[in-house]
Amino acid sequence: MGTTFNILVVDDDLKNIQVGINFLKQNKNYHLIFATSGEQALERVKETSFDLILLDILMPTMDGYEVCSRLKADEATKHIPIIFLTAKNEEESLVRGFELGGADYITKPFNAAELHARVKTQLDLHYYYHQEIAKLQQLLMYSQRAETIKFIAGGVAHDCKNFLSAIPFNLHLLQKTILEDESKKEKMLELIDGAKAAVNKVDNLLNHFFSFNTDSSHHSEPVDMNEVVADLNKVYKEWVRHKIDFSTVLLSQPAITMADKLHIEQVLLNLLINAQYAVVERMERDNGAGRIELLIDKTEATDIEGLQHNLPYITISVEDNGIGMSADVMKKIFDPYFSTRKESGGSGLGLAVSKHIIEMHMGHVEVNSEEGVGTTFTVYLPLAQ
Ligand SMILES: Nc1ncnc2c1ncn2[C@@H]1O[C@H](COP(=O)(O)OP(=O)(O)OP(=O)(O)O)[C@@H](O)[C@H]1O
Ligand SMILES: [Mg+2]
Repeated sequence: MGTTFNILVVDDDLKNIQVGINFLKQNKNYHLIFATSGEQALERVKETSFDLILLDILMPTMDGYEVCSRLKADEATKHIPIIFLTAKNEEESLVRGFELGGADYITKPFNAAELHARVKTQLDLHYYYHQEIAKLQQLLMYSQRAETIKFIAGGVAHDCKNFLSAIPFNLHLLQKTILEDESKKEKMLELIDGAKAAVNKVDNLLNHFFSFNTDSSHHSEPVDMNEVVADLNKVYKEWVRHKIDFSTVLLSQPAITMADKLHIEQVLLNLLINAQYAVVERMERDNGAGRIELLIDKTEATDIEGLQHNLPYITISVEDNGIGMSADVMKKIFDPYFSTRKESGGSGLGLAVSKHIIEMHMGHVEVNSEEGVGTTFTVYLPLAQ
């Protein structure tokens, strides 16, 4: 094995241990460095990374115990094994050495075979320890990466499902329209557009996912939220128009933010679909009229924690008159995998992923809700000047 081990030998009288030193020197894998005082030993340790220290106990000014306890108190040196060098009559004081973290001891004068065996044992243990730590660190890194990928993959799959669910609906309406009246060309083209837009979104999302995997930074560009909402309207309106009153209010001026457009669209779609479920459930229960409003505005100053207080923000609110939420549910809605719609296929990832995306854009998500009245989600994004 070609590994070189750095061994520090600390003794105020090296002549005393010359035989042992000569013996160790014969091993080409051992690189010996010497210190003749405790102070010098502490200096050497700063310069070189040692695999083993042979440490004399009795030394003037700073003794071996003191050196040992200093080394063990320092994060950088506490793992270096220490073998105490002791005279025959000092053996009793070794208890103290072990208490301070010493790994072993050798009695002077040295027996070559014993020295060799003890040094080798400590080096092997130390080497093994390092290998194990490195393995554990690697394992930890892999598992963290796997967690992240699982989280992102879950989010992407979730959003693909959202967009895909627009397609059968548009096709169903298209089929119905054709059967009803063959002359409704306008209407049919509109439905095909809706389905095409959804396919496009899924395609984009998947492309995006592949780039996301290799490059985790998201690409920012100036995005006009008015356009995002108008775009989204195309995919979304046919889907809900027949029963829910869906309206949008745009900002009268460009609402530009630096963002990854696709990610922001995912967030709004998540909020709209959540609102839709809440509204439909309320309509089925109370037989009233359902309403969802998507509203873009801007605010000059916020006192929200985590946002810049003196900078303008764009706000995008999704307001519904659905079933609302209890305070208990509201506490958990941003937790990954929390869903009250598990039976009907809810993954509980929608809001967790949305919040993550908005925070990546230096924004914030706020929620207000009252049971039996409705819910408003408000997304804050920095307004680009
Ligand atoms: N507009 C809303 N009105 C009432 N409850 C809501 C609303 N939006 C979210 N919630 C609650 O928050 C929970 C978590 O939402 P989230 O979007 O993270 O997951 P989900 O909608 O249950 O599942 P998925 O998004 O995978 O379909 C929902 O299950 C629901 O209880
Ligand atoms: Mg959802």
